[in-house]
Amino acid sequence: MPKDPDLMEKIVSLCKRRGFVYPSFDIYGGLAGFFDYGPYGLALKNNIKNLWWKQFVTNREDVYGIDSVIVTKKEVLQASGHARGFADMLSECEKCKRRFRADHLENTNKCPECGGKLGEARHFYMMLETHIGAAEDEASLAYLRPETAQGIFTNFKNIVDSFHPKLPFGIAQIGKAFRNEIAPRDFLFRLREIEQMEVEYFVKPEFWKDAFEMLRKEMVKFIETIGIRTDKVSELEISDEDRAHYSKRTIDFEFEFPFGKKELYGLAYRTDYDLGNHQSSSGVDLACLDEETKEKILPHVIEPSLGVDRSFLAVLCSAYTEDELGGEKRVYLKLNKNLAPVRAAIFPLLKNKPELVSKAREVYESLKLSANSYQLAYDDNGNIGKRYRRQDEIGTPFCITIDFDTLEDNTVTLRDRDSGEQTRVKIEELIRLIK
Ligand code: GAP
Repeated sequence: MPKDPDLMEKIVSLCKRRGFVYPSFDIYGGLAGFFDYGPYGLALKNNIKNLWWKQFVTNREDVYGIDSVIVTKKEVLQASGHARGFADMLSECEKCKRRFRADHLENTNKCPECGGKLGEARHFYMMLETHIGAAEDEASLAYLRPETAQGIFTNFKNIVDSFHPKLPFGIAQIGKAFRNEIAPRDFLFRLREIEQMEVEYFVKPEFWKDAFEMLRKEMVKFIETIGIRTDKVSELEISDEDRAHYSKRTIDFEFEFPFGKKELYGLAYRTDYDLGNHQSSSGVDLACLDEETKEKILPHVIEPSLGVDRSFLAVLCSAYTEDELGGEKRVYLKLNKNLAPVRAAIFPLLKNKPELVSKAREVYESLKLSANSYQLAYDDNGNIGKRYRRQDEIGTPFCITIDFDTLEDNTVTLRDRDSGEQTRVKIEELIRLIK
């Protein structure tokens, strides 16, 4: 597929203009790899996370949700291998001090930015560090977690002791993770502060392939549920040399972003690598009982790992649409209804007619009472055409206009986002229609 850099620019600009995503600290010139979510972005992101939680946790009997801390004791990340393995080979320019991935350089001696001399390639660690307590020394060193997974492994025994689950079972969480990416880029694609949705699914070693396939299908289902274009998604088997240090098999789900085909999600078979290492480093027995054989075993793990920010970006890339309506060009987000930040917007035709305003408020308030899980908006700013365009740009599936006929016969105009079609419907019908 040809790359479309214009599309990316349009999405970034819409995100800022319409309150989805802002560059962090932009009044101070921004900070590469950090973005803040505005009101509509937050609503869309929460909808993505809620759908994930529903599918991977609430709707299942075999998955337990947790929320573990972000600041992580260094022993945990030493045991997991991150403190040594989570690094890129980088060359540093002796003049401008910029660092470049050695495997991305055409000339390994010359800085591609300033022409200065590049030093020998060496490991640069990707974890963000902090210190706990008063002293800033080796003993107080801690890390901001680079993946949510380790908080799951360190809670494995707690869940087993509290709930006595039978294998196979999973532990899930959604949360922030941090990576000192050397080249953050492409908007939300490569960030330094990210959010992940991860399940560690514990199985008897002989059943890992079945669990891998079951979770692969669940990931495909999630991609469909949140409206990522499936014709732009493909699966890539990761080769032995390219897999993370803990994995015996990994599939990447790739998406054709406007800047190229790139990793969206990963599904990894982590074996007993993590539990085994935490068991030997902590000295605590992490084996659990196999109900059938009555023997203690160390389970193996399958991990579907999904980035929230990359989901958000793929959803926007899939939903961004330009067309012509009524002879005018328009931009709209063709978001799934259960993902849109606003489900329906209610307008009085004219804002200077108190009878219309009061009726519109009444409709808005009564719909709000029944809309427990989705957001409604009230808008009386500018002419109706402008209000429609604004709602189209944030992906609102329905617009409801209260006009003079409403006062006579209790009907309103219901406009469909995608077709622009307007139909006359009874107020009592609205709840059913927008649900
Ligand atoms: N626990 C496994 C793990 O963290 P990963 O492939 O490093 O594996 C999993 O990350 C997912 O997290 C990726 O597929 C992607 O969706 C998201 N992700 C990773 N690094 C990211 C970054 N720098 N910016 C945005 N999302 C990122």
